[in-house]
Amino acid sequence: MSQTVEDLRRQAHDALRKTITSNELVQWRSRYLGRKGAVGALFGTIGKLPKEERAAFGQQVNALQSELQKAFEEREQLIRDQVLAQDLEEGEIDITLPAYPRQMGGLHPATRTHREFQTIWAEMGFQVYQSHDVEEDDFNFTLLNLPPHHPARDMQDTFYTTNPKVLLRTHTSPGQIRAMRELGQGGSKPIRVILPGMCYRQEQVTARSEIQFTQVEGLAIGRNIRMSDLKGTISEFAKRMFNTNAKVRYRASYFPFTEPSMEVDVECFLCDGEGCRVCKYTGWLEIAGSGMVHPTVLRNGGYDPSLWSGFAFGMGPERITMLKHGIQDIRYFWGNDLRFLKQF
Ligand code: PHE
Repeated sequence: MSQTVEDLRRQAHDALRKTITSNELVQWRSRYLGRKGAVGALFGTIGKLPKEERAAFGQQVNALQSELQKAFEEREQLIRDQVLAQDLEEGEIDITLPAYPRQMGGLHPATRTHREFQTIWAEMGFQVYQSHDVEEDDFNFTLLNLPPHHPARDMQDTFYTTNPKVLLRTHTSPGQIRAMRELGQGGSKPIRVILPGMCYRQEQVTARSEIQFTQVEGLAIGRNIRMSDLKGTISEFAKRMFNTNAKVRYRASYFPFTEPSMEVDVECFLCDGEGCRVCKYTGWLEIAGSGMVHPTVLRNGGYDPSLWSGFAFGMGPERITMLKHGIQDIRYFWGNDLRFLKQF
């Protein structure tokens, strides 16, 4: 080995052994391994050597550099351990102090409501059917009896993709058609499903409306399903979800895919129907849209409407969660603010 390389090697190791504090260690590193350090200087002399010696010399300096780097890291660990041991000895570190509690995750309030929904509907014999977030125009609108001129198709309301036939579903109802076609086996089998999932609407985001929100759709198809079944089923759900005495009322409404259509209210569970700020002094809270499946929709799902009938409903879990917990602003749901989420 070249004498200069060997000399530097000894010198550097000697100096390293004398470092005690991390400050000294840092100084050592800059003296030997730094940009203007001794090893760097050796690299600088390569050009002055006779050609035939350059390669061998360069290799030696490279080897020295890695050796010193490794020695540095070992020394660093040693000093760190010693400092720690010393601190412990001198009582600088109090190992009897309790540790910081580990942060626990929790379930999102929307997830909690969803699970509650799913449990109740499962107990009532409804299976979960997972439909598509990205939908075809036909499924979201036309097959649900929403003709091409319907205002819900407006660019103002719907997120279209670059393909004008593909969009983000604006409600979970397109899953009705998919469930009927897939589970109905050519319109020959009864169905009882719920279809939970995220929906998307291009809207001004405010305290009361978001561009994304979840819905839980329900669909029951059978030979003899009547409006009394719809009413009995939803009323039973309300009893299990809100409380055993929950009163439910049905108001005539309109949806293109149900006929007749009804909106469902429960008696305000915050004031027991007395009238309060949340129910706007009406004593009632709206919880769902619903109705008997329109014959056209049954046909589009593969069923013969002269033999089969069914009911459908759509609920907004966020709205119900807001009502239950007195949450004033829907933007909290997807805002990822830990101060909000930690409360659940
Ligand atoms: N899809 C309707 C909405 O988004 C709700 C609904 C579902 C109404 C099923 C009737 C039947 O408002």
